[in-house]
Amino acid sequence: MASGSPFHSLHLLNLQSPTMHPKAPSARVSSSRKAEVIAFDESKTGVKGILDSGITRVPPMFHVKEDPTATSRSHSNLSIPVVDLGDIEKNAKRRVEAVEAVGSACREWGFFQVVNHGIGVEVLEEMLRGIGGFHEQDGEERKRFYCRENEKRVRYFSNGKLFRDMAANWRDTIAFVANPHPPPHHHMPPICRDIVAEYTKKVRILGITIFELLSEALGLKPSYFKEMDCAEALYILGQYYPQCPEPELTMGITKHTDCDFMTILLQDQIGGLQVLHENQWVDVPPVHGALVVNIGDILQLMTNDRFISVYHRVLSKNIGPRISVATFFMNFTISECTSKIYGPIKELLSEENPPVYRDITMKEILTNYYAKGLDGNSYLQPLRL
Ligand code: OGA
Ligand code: NI
Repeated sequence: MASGSPFHSLHLLNLQSPTMHPKAPSARVSSSRKAEVIAFDESKTGVKGILDSGITRVPPMFHVKEDPTATSRSHSNLSIPVVDLGDIEKNAKRRVEAVEAVGSACREWGFFQVVNHGIGVEVLEEMLRGIGGFHEQDGEERKRFYCRENEKRVRYFSNGKLFRDMAANWRDTIAFVANPHPPPHHHMPPICRDIVAEYTKKVRILGITIFELLSEALGLKPSYFKEMDCAEALYILGQYYPQCPEPELTMGITKHTDCDFMTILLQDQIGGLQVLHENQWVDVPPVHGALVVNIGDILQLMTNDRFISVYHRVLSKNIGPRISVATFFMNFTISECTSKIYGPIKELLSEENPPVYRDITMKEILTNYYAKGLDGNSYLQPLRL
């Protein structure tokens, strides 16, 4: 980053001002915040750009009010279930075991890891390398992709809801609308375009398999979710969490639930992801070659709360960078959404189990999603009957 850039001079100014302290009077903090955020956005090189400029303190716009590492210690003796998907196509007994394991994981945790899932470890590693490579390219190369336009099929940004949220997260993102209409090859960053195309194909096949297991766990026909178009649209976020000089002051991702049908997450070996389980934050330990799967809000709605979409977050760390790839099974492009209606699945309802959510169209889901900040509240709450 050029030393004369607006962001550079601004944050230096802020670092010398008392308003930078997280517990400083809020009026002064918020008046300076806007200028700080604008300058950051105009730098177009993300958190990585700030770090490369040589800062040793976390700038105020990233400060959270409470130290997340101090407020709640994580449950050390609990862990999300690990489900073995090996041999489930040919061995009926193994399939029953996998269906049961997935079903109880989705009811109790909303999260599980999968192993023997059919995507080779070399593909996973290359995907992490490709995404890391994008974020570690020269700032000028990254800038070409920097964009806040939700409809764009490939774009680089930091903090999707930067202008709405209280504290920005210590994270940059490269986003791809990966399926059904991926960006043309020549629009994709050369450094990762081949592996993103390959990973998209493989993760979609795995997603279809997991949707089958989820359907079976609910007593529905295996193709139920696929026929509801749950595996049609894939939105892939290549997340980059730079090493953080003051990890107790900021978050990698604020506590949130995913607003989609399901998410498949590939994480590297750094760690930091936590899920909220029985009111305690539980670490999701990196397992080499595994993928993390979680239920999103729309599947919680469709299953009428049988499967749960749970809060999760990522802590900042003073080691890094941490790289992860989140594949969201849902369309996030308003211009492409269908008029299909989603609501509690009729087969799961009865007199004892009346619907707890109202029906909603994809367009309304997306409109709500983009209207709300990453404020730590659920997208589902307003849809409860
Ligand atoms: C997300 C998310 C977790 C991670 O992108 O919604 O929760 O480990 N990511 O990056
Ligand atoms: Ni998430």
